[in-house]
Amino acid sequence: MIIFGLDLGNKQTKLFSNKTLSNEENKVEGKVLPSHFLYYDNLGNADTAIFGNKLNINKYKTEFDEEEYAWGPDLHKVHNNENFLDTIGFEKRYSTHEFKLLANFALGELAKDYDAENNFLTVKVVTGVPSDDFNESSVKDLINVLDGRHTITIDDISYTIDVKEVQVIPQSVGTVYNELLNNQGEINPEKEHYLEEEITVVDIGGGTILIDTLKNMNLATKTQFTTGIYTLYDMIIERAKAKGSEYSSLTAYDVEVILREGDDTKGYFFKPNKNVTLEITQIVQNVRKRYTKELINKINKTKKSTSSTDTMLITGGGANLVEKDEIKNRFEFVLFVENSEIANSMGFFKYGMAVMNSEDEEVAATAEE
Ligand SMILES: Nc1ncnc2c1ncn2[C@@H]1O[C@H](COP(=O)(O)OP(=O)(O)OP(=O)(O)O)[C@@H](O)[C@H]1O
Ligand SMILES: [Mg+2]
Repeated sequence: MIIFGLDLGNKQTKLFSNKTLSNEENKVEGKVLPSHFLYYDNLGNADTAIFGNKLNINKYKTEFDEEEYAWGPDLHKVHNNENFLDTIGFEKRYSTHEFKLLANFALGELAKDYDAENNFLTVKVVTGVPSDDFNESSVKDLINVLDGRHTITIDDISYTIDVKEVQVIPQSVGTVYNELLNNQGEINPEKEHYLEEEITVVDIGGGTILIDTLKNMNLATKTQFTTGIYTLYDMIIERAKAKGSEYSSLTAYDVEVILREGDDTKGYFFKPNKNVTLEITQIVQNVRKRYTKELINKINKTKKSTSSTDTMLITGGGANLVEKDEIKNRFEFVLFVENSEIANSMGFFKYGMAVMNSEDEEVAATAEE
């Protein structure tokens, strides 16, 4: 069966299947899209073709909503922040209409890579939730959204995805499976030691920070903070606005893009309009320092003692936004995982493969008896 790995994060949607795998060694693909979208007509006359390059934004339509929506990795380029329909949320997120839309778009987005007959696909979905949501009612809500048959139309081509099975695991565990397993779902012998270790996963996401401890691959303790990277964006906005009214239009969506496009050498710049460029490098650096200190403090308080920890894995997109050296100096056995923003979803996919392999082995064993 086809396996879809879905990480429907507060800020970003990360998608993985065997069609998103890269053929090139050392290159991971997957799909990273925003966890917000627009009414399609809000694109208006937005220039979706800039310098002859068409923006990567498509039109999505589901059966349970009469509207058409615009979604894609280039959404931020249309500068329509005020109309973004967001799915970030800490309560009942999985029962919101917006979340349901996002989940359906995500299924369609993965399905469109397959050249399936009649665009009909039978799949198994593996996904994760922040550890606080790893309870019966939230998991049930999430399964409700994903399970069953979905028809999604992308740019007027219709795809039907029949989700036969949904498996929900704690989000942070995805990163560990990503470290442990290869793309076929087999254990990497060099990483086998993870199976018997005490591993702490620090997942710095857009909405949440998760500090979870696994013993022998089972979730032993979990702590969730609602101070994900959006609080770093908010701190930057607050300090910029305190400097003057020229910063008044700065939004979290802008900051997200500014941080991605800049670096410490080039600097970080806010361009409120074509003629004005404002440098915010100092603010970014100060806030990053502060956010990192607060993160270290959270890990310390949560772990109380780190002496029993064999490995600390730092994951989530936010891992790219903290001061890595500070954290490495502070804790022993720290590993910043590669491709941290997509690590969970890749792990979900690999976990799905591993489960399928073991089911196949069981069937083979029963047949032999
Ligand atoms: N290389 C990078 N440079 C700058 N920012 C990045 C980079 N990678 C990721 N980010 C940002 O990090 C933030 C967190 O991303 P991530 O995908 O982990 O959040 P999420 O999974 O949606 O949130 P949550 O786990 O709370 O649900 C996003 O705002 C994203 O834009
Ligand atoms: Mg996340």
